Amino acid sequence: MAFLDVQHVTKRFGGLTAVADVSFQMEQGEIVGLIGPNGAGKTTLFNLIAGTFPFDEGRIVFDGEPLNGLKPYHVCRRGIARTFQITRPFLEMTCYENVVVGFIGRDGFTGETPERRRRAEEILKLVGLDEFLHTQARHLNLINKKKLEIARALATRPKLILLDEVLGGLNTGEMVQALDLIRAIRDRFGVTVLWIEHVMGALMQVVERLLVLDGGRLICQGDPQTVVRDPRVIEAYLGEADD
Ligand SMILES: Nc1ncnc2c1ncn2[C@@H]1O[C@H](COP(=O)(O)OP(=O)(O)OP(=O)(O)O)[C@@H](O)[C@H]1O
Ligand SMILES: [Mg+2]
Repeated sequence: MAFLDVQHVTKRFGGLTAVADVSFQMEQGEIVGLIGPNGAGKTTLFNLIAGTFPFDEGRIVFDGEPLNGLKPYHVCRRGIARTFQITRPFLEMTCYENVVVGFIGRDGFTGETPERRRRAEEILKLVGLDEFLHTQARHLNLINKKKLEIARALATRPKLILLDEVLGGLNTGEMVQALDLIRAIRDRFGVTVLWIEHVMGALMQVVERLLVLDGGRLICQGDPQTVVRDPRVIEAYLGEADD
């Protein structure tokens, strides 16, 4: 049985079908890229997996259990974490406190323990924010806000992490750091990764498989080199450039 099994999922917003009969599977430990032009339905698909919106048709099974109808905090406790396209740290809280919020999301509020403190420090070190442990999130620059977003997601001890455009706005050096971090999430924490990204050159260095959405439909999937040469994929992107 697949680790994540998305079966014929459809989501409509009024007359607009944002996600149309999408089916795909992921195995545990994979890093899969999700691409497609603006408005293709990528973030909506994340919202459906994460329980932010209910969907109209289909079924999503994660780690052997259906997710249909679960609220976001229940999906989180099943082991799925996400980051947001626009980062949303708690700006008045320190990095450490932001990570603790992730613990609470997963386990409920059980107070600070030496074990939690050690885990928070370990996560912040992994993402490279150890020197900002007690810095308020509002003082962080963009790359560090993105790292904190990933730290907060990791704090919920996910088995699957959904990354929504973590590279946008980063310079080349920062991108290299971010790619190392995404590899480390899988290699060190064993977390399966589904990753939306527009920065194709970088994405291609890390992902093992690509899924392509266009107009809500999954138009192509497979190994990255084959997918980017697929005529349907080229047309989806060129069609956008012509608009
Ligand atoms: N809450 C909502 N209510 C109504 N329409 C929505 C909502 N969320 C998304 N949409 C619409 O659904 C379609 C898919 O949007 P979505 O944000 O999933 O695209 P995307 O692939 O993530 O695009 P981008 O690459 O620009 O982030 C768009 O037409 C969008 O306007
Ligand atoms: Mg999006």
